[in-house]
Amino acid sequence: MTDHSSGLTSTEQWQALARHRDRFRDLTLRQLFREDPDRASRYFIEAAGLGLDFSKNLITDETLALLVELAQRQGLESRRRALLSGQRVNCTEDRPALHTALRVPGNREILVDGVDVVAEVGRTLDHMARFVDAVLGQRQTGFTGQAFTDVVSIGIGGSYLGPKLVTEALQPYWHGAIRCHYVANIDGTDICETLKQVRPETTLFLIQSKSFRTQETLENAKVARQWFLDNGGHEQAIGQHFLAVTANTQAATAFGMDPDNVFPMWDWVGGRYSLWSAIGLPVALTVGMEHFRALLAGAHAMDRHFEEAPLTRNLPVVLGLLSVWYNNFWGAETHAILPYDQYLRSLPDHLQQLDMESNGKRVTLDGCAVDYQTGPVLWGGVGSNGQHAYHQLIHQGTRLIPADFIIPLTSHHPVANHHADLFANCLSQSRAMMTGKTLDEARAELAAEGLDEASIERLAPHKVVPGNKPSNTLIMDRLTPETVGALIALYEHRTFVQGVIWDVNSFDQWGVELGKQLGKGILAQLESPEPPGSAGDTSTDQLIARFRSARRP
Ligand code: F6P
Repeated sequence: MTDHSSGLTSTEQWQALARHRDRFRDLTLRQLFREDPDRASRYFIEAAGLGLDFSKNLITDETLALLVELAQRQGLESRRRALLSGQRVNCTEDRPALHTALRVPGNREILVDGVDVVAEVGRTLDHMARFVDAVLGQRQTGFTGQAFTDVVSIGIGGSYLGPKLVTEALQPYWHGAIRCHYVANIDGTDICETLKQVRPETTLFLIQSKSFRTQETLENAKVARQWFLDNGGHEQAIGQHFLAVTANTQAATAFGMDPDNVFPMWDWVGGRYSLWSAIGLPVALTVGMEHFRALLAGAHAMDRHFEEAPLTRNLPVVLGLLSVWYNNFWGAETHAILPYDQYLRSLPDHLQQLDMESNGKRVTLDGCAVDYQTGPVLWGGVGSNGQHAYHQLIHQGTRLIPADFIIPLTSHHPVANHHADLFANCLSQSRAMMTGKTLDEARAELAAEGLDEASIERLAPHKVVPGNKPSNTLIMDRLTPETVGALIALYEHRTFVQGVIWDVNSFDQWGVELGKQLGKGILAQLESPEPPGSAGDTSTDQLIARFRSARRP
């Protein structure tokens, strides 16, 4: 790392935004809405089946213009071209990041090292389709000839979070012939509790690992294999029941996989962007290939919008710019993802990896130390549950927490008045964040309840809600494969836009590697029959000693 700063904060564009921020000292969202009756419609963008209302943000037209100038200064348009055309944008690993090629229609051509990756993707999709068809048509069965009823997907990080999110999100589209289970954690509870729910004769195991080197995945795969053999399965049947999705075919075959059962992945797809590849096989098995292809089509529609729409009318660009605005000019440290849809309950988990693994960086592409904040902490959960948990801190806490509300206009379950109730809850939260409650309003409310003057003065400060808190609201007609695809692709591009402005490589994750490296040495110490050496610090040594003595028979 070079210790000179990146210079971004001294650019004219950054400085202009810093000065512009000062103008908001006395400017409130209430006032901005009062002064501009068209604000809501002007700050609304529709694309790829999604609608974004970003009017409840602490912005004016000038803010947007200044943010766009910053993005242009950072080369957003050329970096976007580089991304989409397959240039080696992942500079520390010397690779393209071509997740968009996984959902591009087959009549395009994108070359990586002279090979048309779109054609390769097409062949893999056809392979997936044949496999899904054979399993669902019961031509591909388990070793006793019984149809498969369960799929256990073993993988972690990007080989887990995206497919799990989409499987849950598309539950209304499950055909019901296959139950899908996910195992990720190296905590043995995960695999053991899952295996209790399935039978060896009717279970397919998908070992999902781009590198085929990930400890958690390989150890869980070994446990599953042994369980299969111990419960009636036999070596010759492994090929029927165990498949791999990986870019490392050699390691998968060394592990015992039949090469015919290995679906390819490619270096030019990052793990956290891989759900669109054969890593999505558990999704395809659960909802059918037609719906999987519709998911890809929805994501592609968002890619087209990202590529073509003007920056100020571009959904991912606007979301990315707003995130930079709060992160770097308002001191926001976190960003809440609040899906008001039970099917999207795993969206915050997936976006955490997507955004925080991508933009949790501290040097620029040239290796200069940044002197500004990069990726914020993403967190959140499903509404309305969160309203009875952490929303209090959003409304009355001391921190600024911008939030994304995500809600479909219609429900797959129009039971009683639930969807209107849900929608009202969602709107009430973004409105409460925006308007808050003034001291005068709190006093008037208490007076209307008939309280005496002393009680009013005592209670009113506790009832004040400062408001003026920004939020976005993302809507769609309904949760469908297409809209789910578009939604996830939207956040992928938002992540990229932020990374471009911060000038970081959003496609590597060297920090994660350190824990993996240290883990190997510590595991050796935990398991060694020799008296323990030192792991390097007395705290770790003490905990290793405790573990070893608890294990002693
Ligand atoms: O967490 C680090 C990471 O490398 C992620 O980027 C990746 O998605 C995950 O591990 C799993 O990796 P693999 O698919 O190679 O097992």
